[in-house]
Amino acid sequence: MTKNSFDLKKYLAAKTHVVNAALDKYLEVKYPPLIYRAMRYSMFAGGKRLRPILVLEGARLCGGREQSVMPTACALEFIHTYSLIHDDLPAMDNDDYRRGKLTSHKKFGEDVAILAGDALLTEALGLVAKNAQEKGIGAERVINVLALLVRASGVEGMIGGQLVDTCEDSLVKKGKQATKKRTLAYIHTHKTLALIQASLSAGAMLAGASPAKIKALDRYGADIGLAFQIADDILDVVGDKKKLGKKGSDAQNKKLTYVSLYGLDGARRQAKGLVAAAKRELAVFGREKYILESLADFIIEREY
Ligand code: IPE
Ligand code: IPE
Ligand code: MG
Ligand code: MG
Ligand code: MG
Repeated sequence: MTKNSFDLKKYLAAKTHVVNAALDKYLEVKYPPLIYRAMRYSMFAGGKRLRPILVLEGARLCGGREQSVMPTACALEFIHTYSLIHDDLPAMDNDDYRRGKLTSHKKFGEDVAILAGDALLTEALGLVAKNAQEKGIGAERVINVLALLVRASGVEGMIGGQLVDTCEDSLVKKGKQATKKRTLAYIHTHKTLALIQASLSAGAMLAGASPAKIKALDRYGADIGLAFQIADDILDVVGDKKKLGKKGSDAQNKKLTYVSLYGLDGARRQAKGLVAAAKRELAVFGREKYILESLADFIIEREY
């Protein structure tokens, strides 16, 4: 396949299909059914499945088999979906719509929504552990991936970012532009970049990648991870709410975002620069880099 004959839309649809089939299997309804219903409601409301797709592609580029990293790919979507359920809660962003449907707490109540998020996070770690049973993976690789995912989703990653995002006005002194820039960089790199970057590394590590390939994916992941959240900030303002499946609440919540700090044009310019930089990191993959190149463009051109 060459870059010109590659159809990203078709690729994303096909990968979403295989990921959804695996997610369905891992979320089989057991007792108590209400928790599975709530987990499945948010999981299958929609979603681009970007993080699991990055796990699959990270593995493929490093000689791994898609099916043998599927438990970890699904774990990334579990962690991401938990983060969305909790992000929407009244005490956080207080949003009513997500993935085109009512948010979990609107549908099931806050008690069940909190537990559905907790359940997805906890079960995600179990799924990664399960990956050790796949042929050719081995316990040591899985332990390294577990440590990586805990770092990316814990206090050193997403939780740290979400904490500063939600308490930013009490942490940053008014009018201090330089402090604001530093704080915004911390929020975005931690709440969003960390998990996107870890997705690629997790796939690569499970496939037994060389240090050079892991390093390239890490740098690419950092660039597209930040570009992804900048695009999310832009879409919050200018996006079509129907296509997005969420209403946008940053202005109402007085959030510190790339748009509020740099304006729409400034935000777009920085996102474009990051995508160009991301593509420059891919030389080590030779001709096989076309999927990640195309995904990098999608990160900022997307409408949902
Ligand atoms: C939204 O993520 C929240 C962020 C981290 C910016 P996505 O835009 O990947 O949401 P889904 O999974 O497609 O619904
Ligand atoms: C959330 O960022 C990032 C997460 C870790 C969930 P946002 O609050 O901007 O995400 P959306 O716009 O609600 O999807
Ligand atoms: Mg938020
Ligand atoms: Mg939000
Ligand atoms: Mg947002």
